[in-house]
Amino acid sequence: MIKAVLFDLDGVIVSTDNCHYKAWKRMADEEGIYFDEKINNRLRGVSRMESLAIVLERATKSYSDAEKAALAERKNNYYKELITALTPADILPGAMENLKALKENAIKIAIGSSSKNTPIILKQIGLDSYFDAVSDGNNIKNSKPDPEVFVKAAEMLGIDPADCLVVEDADAGIEAGRAGGMKTLSVNGAKGADYFAENLAAFSIVENIVR
Ligand code: BG6
Ligand code: MG
Repeated sequence: MIKAVLFDLDGVIVSTDNCHYKAWKRMADEEGIYFDEKINNRLRGVSRMESLAIVLERATKSYSDAEKAALAERKNNYYKELITALTPADILPGAMENLKALKENAIKIAIGSSSKNTPIILKQIGLDSYFDAVSDGNNIKNSKPDPEVFVKAAEMLGIDPADCLVVEDADAGIEAGRAGGMKTLSVNGAKGADYFAENLAAFSIVENIVR
């Protein structure tokens, strides 16, 4: 029985993917590193430093650890510039309707995101005190596909992982939910889930999964 729904943030609640893309692209262009949308897709759900390692696969020189840290920081500064423009209008279609319906049905809701920028993003979109728990890149050691971020979210809620549903747009996120012993719902084409929806706009979690 589903008692809690754990939502990924980027690409499920809010469309920050394009901001990540633009920030990585700007940094990669400055460094002369080839980067495109296809490579960007591989970064979904993956932590900042692991994302950098993927971006650097196409680099023609090697970078020291200190240089890598500086590149990641530079990208993050570009990203933070871009997300200051986010507003509640950037909440993805269907997300609010689903969150409200879950609350009305006494189902707990939490965020499970690899992003260290989660608190800033939730504030920008006006949802900083909306969720029952927020587990993010600031409280984990291992990022998706490791289940840690979702396991911590379930712990914060006091709900058994088997009674949780994870909603994800990334293959790594679906893998994380499954590894944590949770049910999984894929949106935007993530592979390997128990349930699939093209997006949340035309899909009711309460009607299709909880009941
Ligand atoms: C995830 C994104 O939510 O957060 C990834 O899907 C991103 O693309 C990761 O790399 C880490 O984000 P941040 O904000 O901590 O750099
Ligand atoms: Mg995502």
